[in-house]
Amino acid sequence: MYKYILLLIFSLLFYNCSTTKPYTKFKTAEKWLDNNKVHINAHGGGFLIYNKTYYWYGEHKISGEKGNKAMVGVRIYSSKDLYNWKNEGVALQMIKNTSSKLQIGSIVERPKVIYNKKTNKFVMWFHHELKDQAYKAALTGVAVSDNITGPFEYINSFRIHANQLPINLLQKDFDSILPINENQKLTKQIRIEQAKLGQLFKRDFENGQMSRDMTLFVDDDETAYHITASEENQTLLISKLTDDYLSLTNDYIRIFPGQRNEAPAIFKRKGKYFMFTSGLTGWNPNPGKLAIADKLMGNWTFLGNPCRGTKEEMATTFWSQSTYVIPVIGKKDAFIFAADRWRPKNPIDGRYVWLPVQFENDIPFLELFPHWDLSIFKN
Ligand code: GAL
Repeated sequence: MYKYILLLIFSLLFYNCSTTKPYTKFKTAEKWLDNNKVHINAHGGGFLIYNKTYYWYGEHKISGEKGNKAMVGVRIYSSKDLYNWKNEGVALQMIKNTSSKLQIGSIVERPKVIYNKKTNKFVMWFHHELKDQAYKAALTGVAVSDNITGPFEYINSFRIHANQLPINLLQKDFDSILPINENQKLTKQIRIEQAKLGQLFKRDFENGQMSRDMTLFVDDDETAYHITASEENQTLLISKLTDDYLSLTNDYIRIFPGQRNEAPAIFKRKGKYFMFTSGLTGWNPNPGKLAIADKLMGNWTFLGNPCRGTKEEMATTFWSQSTYVIPVIGKKDAFIFAADRWRPKNPIDGRYVWLPVQFENDIPFLELFPHWDLSIFKN
């Protein structure tokens, strides 16, 4: 009898250790295990909803100090409920051949994928930096696939809008921009001035504008846009994509010159466009920002810091940096703010901060919930 009781206790213990219950809530910045019980490796993520399923594309990071280099590529996960994620493999694989810009050890960040209904293709854009050149190249990269999980075929990476003026900069104003004074000692304030005066824009006019932190947005009419941090991250550029989503058109605007925005994440609610961004402090968090517009390629207005909470929470966006805003399937006007809590010393252990986007008088705000679930959305 005693033997049987012991056996029962052991089997119960073993059962508890070997099975994990499915998640039924979001657990802010805790380890988030996939179907293989491995912490999700999809940092700086972008999300796509297709066939009532969520797909999460993100940077596959490695352990240790050098883990922010792209050694593997863009990983993809799928989920029906947003809590439980299945590893679907590597969507975009880094290339061994050293003659490819996408070679192993280059930097691939903030991948985003959109689906083109006309061509029936999945199109990925990402921030790309060349191997051993730190963040100098400032390119945007594009890849395409017939399948949502890939393999994505790499097309190219490039600077953007060479020799093209944005819609909101007149030729005569461009002509009157003075070149950068190279003798001046470069400070943060000088950089801001250079962006405000259009000097950084003019510097890069012939070779193409820089493109770093980026996102994509598909509007209700299926027109897609590429939004990116340019001009040494001092200015944002919003560009219309071509109908096949594979290139940028010449239709673009410059917004917030000298206002230092990164990590743009856009969503639309009740006909208004909202954009979360961060400031410019590398892997360290800073106060989040929110902007609003009636038209994506129109006038954008800053609304301030969307975070509510303690001083420290507001100063650090809950120790995170925005990456995407996920619309919730089957709920009206329900959105999740998805952000990264980077761990630059061990990037693979970077955490995810997901929070419900709440509204007061139709203006979004964010609050920290250590644990929460989708029942917070009423409709
Ligand atoms: C952050 C940016 C990240 C990454 C990092 C590198 O500001 O949002 O995506 O580029 O800088 O320091």
